[in-house]
Amino acid sequence: MTRRTRIISCGSYLPAGIMTNEDIAKVVNTSNEWIEQRTGIKSRHIAAQGETTSEMATHAARQALAKAGLTGLDIDAIFLATTTPDQTFPATAVTVQDNIGMGDHGFALDLQAVCSGFIYALATADNFVKSGQIGRALVIGAERFSSLLDWTDRTTCVLFGDGAGAVVVEVDETGTGSAKDRGILSTHLHSEGAHRSLLYVDGGPSTTQTVGHVRMNGKEVFRHAVTRMGEVVHEALAQYHLKPEDIRWLIPHQANQRIIDSTVAKLQLPPDRVVMTVSQHGNTSAASIPLALTVAIEDGRIQRDDLLLLEAMGGGFTWGAALVRW
Ligand code: ACO
Repeated sequence: MTRRTRIISCGSYLPAGIMTNEDIAKVVNTSNEWIEQRTGIKSRHIAAQGETTSEMATHAARQALAKAGLTGLDIDAIFLATTTPDQTFPATAVTVQDNIGMGDHGFALDLQAVCSGFIYALATADNFVKSGQIGRALVIGAERFSSLLDWTDRTTCVLFGDGAGAVVVEVDETGTGSAKDRGILSTHLHSEGAHRSLLYVDGGPSTTQTVGHVRMNGKEVFRHAVTRMGEVVHEALAQYHLKPEDIRWLIPHQANQRIIDSTVAKLQLPPDRVVMTVSQHGNTSAASIPLALTVAIEDGRIQRDDLLLLEAMGGGFTWGAALVRW
């Protein structure tokens, strides 16, 4: 008998406001053609004035709880990945803890790994569950990334959007530890701080005392993203002696259609095995994987026992993957 972590439900939230490429072209010198051709993005959701990361996270968390038939009191811990917390402190996760009625039950913390945040949060939850310290957790990726954008910089503001996704994970002791058992088979995390100046925010409490804006060397980020995401997929598959063709669904971080296409081509994976939401969501950073996962669960693409590979790369650089038997 093996103690494994299984994702039992998903939830998501996208703000009502939609900003198309044509809308952005009224703000900066760009065009629908340029954005779509370079990134695959057609539109993104943008939070309303005053709509916070914790509110979006709470919507997604409530939906995931409802689908699992649970309440906040059934949850032992919240792991919330975000780059855009409501405040510098307290953690956005404690606001969600309060909103979902957990009271003083369990604990709640934020994780910061930018676009890899959901993979980092899922890996952390998985290890807490496997160690026996908790039985059930909410893992959330939530971003109000529009707050970090410099709306005069066309090289960055066209890429991002807002939203939140959440999953409930719980312990499963029915398996024997094989790759056929349901649940999270493995997680793989990496970072390399030497490249932190290629993608960063030019503000923060201990430097400028401001929130700051996203700054990026797009070409270098692209190059590293394709290399690192390809590497981590192979690393995840190697642990169970699996091949790329064993992956039923690749659920990549939705940064850019071209980054995903290049990764998929390197893996020689059929494009129809990739869940894509970037055209409608843009890059929602830590929220992008749980948002895409929820879409593919709800439309019936992902079926029981499918092998899923979740992978991401973000500022830092950070990158990682999770191999999941659904
Ligand atoms: N609209 C019109 N023209 C633009 C825009 C825009 N929004 N942005 C840049 N340009 C111009 C540039 O000024 C440049 O003009 P020039 O040739 O006259 O100097 C020209 O387009 C080409 O610019 P490049 O930067 O070379 O364009 P590139 O083909 O590299 O595409 C892009 C830029 C889309 C940002 C690409 O580098 C990329 O996708 N990088 C990855 C970035 C990313 O996904 N970051 C997300 C966070 S990290 C992650 O999630 C993995």
